[in-house]
Amino acid sequence: MEENSNLLLVLWLVELLTLGYSYIYLVVTYGDLKPQGSLYDFAVTIYSYDRPRLLNRLLLDILEQEQLLVIRKRRLFLQIVDDNSIGCHDVHYWRSQKSENVNDFYQVNSKEQLLGLPCTFPSRLFGVLETLEGTLDWQIWISKRHFGKHEHWKMVRRAFETLKDVHSTFYVFLQDDMRICCQFFDRAQMFWSLIEDRYKMTLSLHCDNNRVNYSGWTMLNSTQKHRAVVLSGWVESSNFLCESRFLEWMNYTFPMVNPSRWYRRKYASSGVGETLSNLLYRAGYSMYRTSHSLLYHCRARDSKMHPVIRKEELLETFAFIDGDVVGSRMELECVTVTCSMASTWPRTQLLYDSLYSLAPQIDIIYLYLNDYEHIPSFLHVDFVQIVSCPESSDLGDIGKFYVTPHADYHFTLDDDIIYPWDFVMEMISCYTSLPQPALLGVHGVMLDQEKLFRQDYFQSRTVISLEMAVPCPCQVNILGTGAMLYQPRSFNIPKEIFIEKNMADIYIAILAKSRNINLFIVNRSSYWLTEQRKDDIPSIYEDFIRNGQKRRKITKMLREFMPWKCSHTDNLSVCCFTQS
Ligand SMILES: *[C@@H]1O[C@H](CO)[C@@H](O)[C@H](O)[C@H]1NC(C)=O
Ligand SMILES: *[C@@H]1O[C@H](CO)[C@@H](O)[C@H](O)[C@H]1NC(C)=O
Ligand SMILES: *[C@@H]1O[C@H](CO)[C@@H](O)[C@H](O)[C@H]1NC(C)=O
Ligand SMILES: *[C@@H]1O[C@H](CO)[C@@H](O)[C@H](O)[C@H]1NC(C)=O
Ligand SMILES: *[C@@H]1O[C@H](CO)[C@@H](O)[C@H](O)[C@H]1NC(C)=O
Repeated sequence: MEENSNLLLVLWLVELLTLGYSYIYLVVTYGDLKPQGSLYDFAVTIYSYDRPRLLNRLLLDILEQEQLLVIRKRRLFLQIVDDNSIGCHDVHYWRSQKSENVNDFYQVNSKEQLLGLPCTFPSRLFGVLETLEGTLDWQIWISKRHFGKHEHWKMVRRAFETLKDVHSTFYVFLQDDMRICCQFFDRAQMFWSLIEDRYKMTLSLHCDNNRVNYSGWTMLNSTQKHRAVVLSGWVESSNFLCESRFLEWMNYTFPMVNPSRWYRRKYASSGVGETLSNLLYRAGYSMYRTSHSLLYHCRARDSKMHPVIRKEELLETFAFIDGDVVGSRMELECVTVTCSMASTWPRTQLLYDSLYSLAPQIDIIYLYLNDYEHIPSFLHVDFVQIVSCPESSDLGDIGKFYVTPHADYHFTLDDDIIYPWDFVMEMISCYTSLPQPALLGVHGVMLDQEKLFRQDYFQSRTVISLEMAVPCPCQVNILGTGAMLYQPRSFNIPKEIFIEKNMADIYIAILAKSRNINLFIVNRSSYWLTEQRKDDIPSIYEDFIRNGQKRRKITKMLREFMPWKCSHTDNLSVCCFTQS
């Protein structure tokens, strides 16, 4: 470290003087600091579970920063260790599980390999693969069963074992719900080089509010060593940087965490951070953290690994280095998206295809099963939450409104539609451009008030169906709830409004009208969504047309809420005008 101290001083001044330092900084840093023979500059490991949208966001962060680097292309290796987000069920694995050397993970380097695995929803990782393909050297491990927090050490062991053959100057471990600060790799490297301590082993790049002066695991109190780094006495299972000597010392493996840990403390954490911290502490090595967090923890309120504790103990980022404004912007980009769907058993096969198309795009799918005798096995994945039970009654389409969602964006969807890969992205982007309050759909109905009054509902309506192209967002009177988007924060739907089955579109239209909420249809191509047809399965619509009593009922309801007009003034966005 001695011979580098002048250089380090220069680096520190540069960091202090300007944020736009990257040119000088890069020239200075990549002097002779890099040990000979290393293949990569950074080897990044991301532990991931069931948050493909956040994982993808983090990958885009990393790739965007790397593409900005014009002077010298950094060499990055990236591995994702996924805790079976995609529903893998391999009987051979279970049969051979007890034998020595059984492999707990699938290795994936391409979409073909992913599709070849015995897993029900490989599509959940399609977005991630699309982002990675053709970029850096990467590798995905998918556990053959879900390890959860009790066996999280197996994920860490997998990561360390892989890294034995990945020669890199630095190793960084991240969690999928983190975002990186600007110039993340440069800064991480610089803070590491500032620590003048022969025994330094790890540098945590994130600190949450509870851990600022933390001393729980090793009884060491935090000591500020420098303006930029704190001797902390702890390291977590991820969100830190190290060099290869740490992994060498760990023998490129990780010891088993004793299950007795949870006998009395059911909600205790995975034990990986505690084990690591204690190993290092007892061996006399030092653990540091950066004074400011270089990572931002998105959606600190929901945890996949410790859902129960997280409610009391929020792991919010402490002192994010890019400031609160950037942090809030990042939080906004980590919106949660859920959907609810009702299914009826003759459509089981259609349901699978529909969920397959949604898997990469949605955080959680709430599913109400009408009349199912049992839960089909493909539904045993964590992102699908069955909200009915076998004794639940057949609610028809009201099942879509059975749960009260809490996400930032919520869709009601149908089990017989295939949703395109850009469905969620395009819908949210269109929604945010609309005058609020609004609901957004894909198909819908405009009413002719004259005809509604003199004849009936079916004569009065003009349907904007899926086969029609819609050149720009247009306003309608009734939306199809088979593809509807809203923000639960600003539009709550009381269950009491649904009096009769399979008329949800009408009830929603009336509710929205009574609250002065405008209904829009997204601009889109013809057949952007496709309905799957099965000739032998009766559609609700057919049933509806034949039922004269229902038609009279709807006509009467809609007449009570007259006038039905598209009152919007911007003619481009009003369907009633473009029609005439
Ligand atoms: C951590 O300790 C320092 C020094 O004792 C104190 O000033 C600071 O308020 C503490 N921070 C938290 C979040 O407890
Ligand atoms: C850590 O701080 C606490 C409270 O300030 C003190 O009582 C304790 O002795 C300190 N521990 C060590 C190891 O210095
Ligand atoms: C790595 O293996 C060596 C030799 O068996 C052992 O002495 C050392 O304690 C191991 N390292 C750790 C962190 O367990
Ligand atoms: C709607 O129009 C916008 C602006 O032209 C476009 O970016 C978007 O892709 C369109 N939406 C769909 C679903 O095609
Ligand atoms: C609205 O319609 C009028 C007449 O048809 C046209 O001149 C005007 O450009 C339209 N406005 C917009 C915003 O397109």
